[in-house]
Amino acid sequence: MTQAFASLGLQNFSCQVDTDNVAWLAIHCPDSPVNRLSTQVLNELSLALDYFERKLPAGLVIHSTKEAGFIAGADIDEFGGLDTPKKAKTLISRGWTLFKRLAQTPYPTLALIHGHCLGGGLELALACRYRLVVDQPGTSLSLPEVMLGIFPGWGGMLRLPALIGAPAALDMMLSGRPQNARKAFRLGLADGIVAPRLMQQAAQAQVLSGKPRRKARGLPAWLNHPLARSLVARQTIKKLNMRDPHHHYLAPRIILEIWAKHKGNALHAPALLEQIICSDTARNLLRVFHLQERLKALVKQGSVLPAAKHVHVIGAGVMGGDIAAWCALKGLTVTLQDQDRARIAMAQGRANTLFKRKKQDPREARAAADRLIPDLNGNGVRHADVIIEAITENADIKRSLYAQIEPLMKPGAILATNTSSLSLEALRTDLQAPQRLIGIHFFNPVAKMPLIEVVETTSIDPKVKAATYAFVGQIDKLPLPVLSTPGFLVNAVLAPYMLEAMRCIDEGIKPETIDAAMLAFGMLMGPIELIDTVGLDIARDAGRQLSDTAGTPACLEAHLARNELGRKSGQGFYQWKNNKPIKPSAGVIPAGLAQRLITPLIDKTKEQVDKHIVADPDLADAGVIFGTGFAPFTGGPMHYRAQCIQDRTPRSD
Ligand code: NAI
Repeated sequence: MTQAFASLGLQNFSCQVDTDNVAWLAIHCPDSPVNRLSTQVLNELSLALDYFERKLPAGLVIHSTKEAGFIAGADIDEFGGLDTPKKAKTLISRGWTLFKRLAQTPYPTLALIHGHCLGGGLELALACRYRLVVDQPGTSLSLPEVMLGIFPGWGGMLRLPALIGAPAALDMMLSGRPQNARKAFRLGLADGIVAPRLMQQAAQAQVLSGKPRRKARGLPAWLNHPLARSLVARQTIKKLNMRDPHHHYLAPRIILEIWAKHKGNALHAPALLEQIICSDTARNLLRVFHLQERLKALVKQGSVLPAAKHVHVIGAGVMGGDIAAWCALKGLTVTLQDQDRARIAMAQGRANTLFKRKKQDPREARAAADRLIPDLNGNGVRHADVIIEAITENADIKRSLYAQIEPLMKPGAILATNTSSLSLEALRTDLQAPQRLIGIHFFNPVAKMPLIEVVETTSIDPKVKAATYAFVGQIDKLPLPVLSTPGFLVNAVLAPYMLEAMRCIDEGIKPETIDAAMLAFGMLMGPIELIDTVGLDIARDAGRQLSDTAGTPACLEAHLARNELGRKSGQGFYQWKNNKPIKPSAGVIPAGLAQRLITPLIDKTKEQVDKHIVADPDLADAGVIFGTGFAPFTGGPMHYRAQCIQDRTPRSD
């Protein structure tokens, strides 16, 4: 580092100047695996720019020394204090002014991006004259602010549309969707894509190239023209209304308006800024983000253990087949065992569809397919680090399987069951080492549901627990610790909710009206569609086991008598076509219906917290949001309940 730069005493930046007078400014926030743009980091960047004003470099390359990536965004912990529009304005103004300055330096600037480049990190990169992305698996560029109920206020709403055109920029800003290195390059978000070993060389050549700043061209550029913006905004609003007809989410509409009417500058739209800051939605979505971070942090307890390499899944049915596919997608070697060869073949077919959908590069899809090995005889048991049992829900059959495989397992291998209703205590009675059995409860559909309930008892070996959490993190799922009781958390709270929905049908309310009421409340899927999706037979079994009140609803009995099982049979409460329910118009929703339906779910959540099935109300909220799609903007059922009590007003309906 140059002596003069070192004398600035910056904690988060260091700088080397090469023989061509290119300054390499490294960001490395101390005591954190990622870089975040806290107030201190922004202040230090400002000091660094002052320095480069005095000692003009031929070019400036900003890069990160963190293995995980470039910059993970603003420091979200600082958002907690943003309770007044004035404070929010100060924070926005700080980043806006600094990045404007970065965009106007007399020397060329380049962001060298590997790994994550999110939110404020991407806004910083957009302010540079050039961007190079490193072609490696973790590279991901996004503006995810909308998912937190806020907006990219540091110049992203101005510079992204100018760089890649309005349609692609709006898509990124309104969805928060990330772009990998190749997609970023194709979109024009990056000037180049480079192999990791060539990145320094390429960055140096690009920053000294003298090429003009990239701009969108043609129609995408024209659609960003001030005269075209209102037209584009009108079209986009229609799409937002379809996606969020009940206006639960404010941020996408506000982002659109700031882009369309205020040149992407939130400082010119104080009323919109105030609306966001004063809304519960942004606060609650921020809360959900923190809950998610809390679940993610649980995987660290196993971080010192070696990563699992080989998973053996027994049972290639609905769940086992999809669990095996997911693990192969995430890079593990997977052997898939079933007593029925045809089930393995069907699971492989579904897996190939998943790989093609998730991997853009056909070679990567092929590699994932190669990692998924059919194993009729169960040879993989001897080699696996993790064995996941997902066979028929029957304690005797499961116990007899464990007796066969336990002597063959590697020492230290985890034995996990995906049971949704049987207790670990009942399943482990015949095991030589009962402390190695743990529950890993996936949700259906495996590829879509982010949560896994990790079912614990006090007698499980702590090493097994730690390794299980690490494994859940390794396959990119969120672990929720729950105690071994019927229904754990998620199914236990869903059962009375679904039962209440079917009681409403027995009273003459139409399925489509019930679902519409809950969509208006903010659920991702209505309860009747959910029952059709999980299967009416499964709903009946779960209801019998988990509901406190006896008796199967008459409507459910009637469908089952006609063998109408829901989506899987093409007919349930709805008729299904192309995997979608055909829903007649909902008609008028009776007053109080949503409240009636959601109350049993909320009450049951509280009961599970009181019984310590989950450790605390926050974890319960996290579990119910990520396990059932409970309206995230409410902050979760326990938070919603507390707010309703606090407000002393009738709950919204
Ligand atoms: P499924 O009936 O679709 O598949 C079970 C598979 O296990 C079948 O292919 C069967 O041939 C195989 N099998 C049975 N005994 C076997 C043995 N001894 N050796 C090898 N293969 C054997 O069942 P599904 O729905 O996949 O459920 C599996 C487990 O996952 C159950 O414990 C269930 O409670 C649990 N679960 C199910 C969910 C769902 O939505 N279906 C959700 C979460 C957990």
